Amino acid sequence: MTEPSQAASPGIRVDWWCGRLEGLLVRESRKTLSHLQKLFQYPACEGMGPDTVVYRVRWWEPVPANLEGGLFWGLTEIESGQVGDEYFMTHGHFHAKRDRAEYYGTIQGSGMLILMNEKRETRLEEMLPGSLHYIPGGIAHRVANTGVAPLSFWACWPSDAGHDYATIDANGFSARLKNRNGRPTLVPEE
Ligand code: 6PG
Ligand code: NI
Repeated sequence: MTEPSQAASPGIRVDWWCGRLEGLLVRESRKTLSHLQKLFQYPACEGMGPDTVVYRVRWWEPVPANLEGGLFWGLTEIESGQVGDEYFMTHGHFHAKRDRAEYYGTIQGSGMLILMNEKRETRLEEMLPGSLHYIPGGIAHRVANTGVAPLSFWACWPSDAGHDYATIDANGFSARLKNRNGRPTLVPEE
């Protein structure tokens, strides 16, 4: 006989070792260099085509977007690589509803969580397997892969948070994470 809890299960599975999210209801998006070109200071990428995948997000929306009180769950995997002296990174965003917070947890790889408040003060948190990151509301967040292997992390955020990418497209972050002599270094914008 089927347990009631099994019957109700949507069959979503997280692979905590390799950082995969599986299940029929899981959605996926991919961001390539052509999507992200404007984010990088020196966007010429020798030897890498515009279709090079920088990162993939797989996520589950168990309730409708914009529903107050629900939660979404996602897994992001960022490839290892650089564009000029900047590491492969996510677009970065504020939540459209500014007071909505989020958790990130690193599964594998290494990188930096880049956090910027609305006064444009930017700081870093190191991401290593097992590191847990609380991103308060009103904080723009972006992740850069500073290692030689893919970086994967899970995220959990409110279903009505939304994404404000336009503010980052318009103004960027106030500092860029650059590879300076092999070390990730936060370099303020002039
Ligand atoms: C979210 C999360 C997270 C994020 C991805 C990709 O609010 O949905 O922060 O799932 O969207 O890591 O980053 P970008 O949304 O900045 O491309
Ligand atoms: Ni977010």
